[in-house]
Amino acid sequence: MENFIAYNPVKLHFGKDVLDDLEKAVDEFGKKVLLVYGGGSIKKNGVYEKIIKQLNTIGAEVYEFSGIKPNPVVEDVNEAASSGREKKVDVIIAAGGGSVIDSAKMISIAIPVNTSAWDFFEGKIKPKSAIPLISVLTLAATGTEMNPYAVLQNNSLQRKLGMGHQLMYPQHSFLDPTYTISVSKEYTAYGIADLIAHCLEAFFGAGDASLSDKFVYSIISEAMQYGPLLMQDLKDYDLRAKIMYAATAALNQTTTYGRVSGDWGVHSIGHNLSLLFDMAHGASLAIAYPAWLKLHHDRAGDRIIELGKNIFNDDTIDGTINKFENFFRSIGCPVRLPDAGINKDQHELIVNAMTKHDESGVHHKLSREDVVRMIEMMW
Ligand code: NZQ
Ligand code: ZN
Repeated sequence: MENFIAYNPVKLHFGKDVLDDLEKAVDEFGKKVLLVYGGGSIKKNGVYEKIIKQLNTIGAEVYEFSGIKPNPVVEDVNEAASSGREKKVDVIIAAGGGSVIDSAKMISIAIPVNTSAWDFFEGKIKPKSAIPLISVLTLAATGTEMNPYAVLQNNSLQRKLGMGHQLMYPQHSFLDPTYTISVSKEYTAYGIADLIAHCLEAFFGAGDASLSDKFVYSIISEAMQYGPLLMQDLKDYDLRAKIMYAATAALNQTTTYGRVSGDWGVHSIGHNLSLLFDMAHGASLAIAYPAWLKLHHDRAGDRIIELGKNIFNDDTIDGTINKFENFFRSIGCPVRLPDAGINKDQHELIVNAMTKHDESGVHHKLSREDVVRMIEMMW
């Protein structure tokens, strides 16, 4: 097992009506609030109304930045950061899914500096301070509510990149599964695929960490047991709660302690599909993971068998790969590019985009030929 530091300062409020405590959390930091959200889902499911009511109770001064897109872009972050800087906000509330919370993390470290948030991704500057961030999560998927990472897209450079820093943890995260009941069938399925993918990225990282492996088996088993039931009954609070907690646990670092790192090769391939086709993140992973597992049939065969034995009671490589692929398909995720409406005319475009920047994992290095083989397996 590798040495590790366990550090996670997020105060997570989980369950029914936890948003009743939002006002107290905001009051810790001040009264000038930047409220960041997306395309308007929070106005339909009661979250917006609830937040505003709480903020009015403490007499907060609220500035709004809305319109954050799924697959969020750096331009929106820069615009929101300059508005937050000008208004001298004390605290940021991010209400929505991963795209909104990731954008707000970048806004929180971009406000104190006066350059594009993209400079952080390119390593030109490092975060020095952050405006305190409170997240109100409405979609179970990314784990961003309890981790220090953010992913942004830069359309002019045609890149989607992730970064992390300890200043990027939310101070508080509020998770009331009730507010995920309005998530569509498609995004519910993509969230389940994403959380499973996070476990797999950890599992295929370097280093021997048997307890972290067991967390991976448990989280994937939980998602595979309750995910299909949730797909049958999207309004069930308890099932929403189980999947929401599983998604948080899948990427709050507990699955990585004792390893050198996770792998993340599938995520870098998936980010390219999102960039090219504005594909939902979880959908891109459901297509890329089966191809990655097939490519690693021999290279990581022992690990695939270990995974299969513990999750499916199946000690074959092919059986395990098929079971993952069939699971993603069974909950309604695309598992091949045509399932997502992409046809073979796009083959060259995909190959060129994915080989341009040497996409790879940290532990399992992908050569250009590997990436091309993976794309072929996605048809
Ligand atoms: O924009 P609104 O109107 O809010 O609608 C959103 C959006 O259209 C909607 N939605 C969210 N909550 C809802 C809801 N609709 C109805 N009811 C609700 N309660 O769902 C759509 C998708 O939202 P989005 O935030 O894009 O989804 P997700 O949470 O999957 O986030 C995806 C982003 O997170 C990044 C991805 O790359 C992608 O950019 N990731 C972030 C990670 C991290 N920070 O740790 C790790 C992940 O691997 C991932 O890369
Ligand atoms: Zn992900």
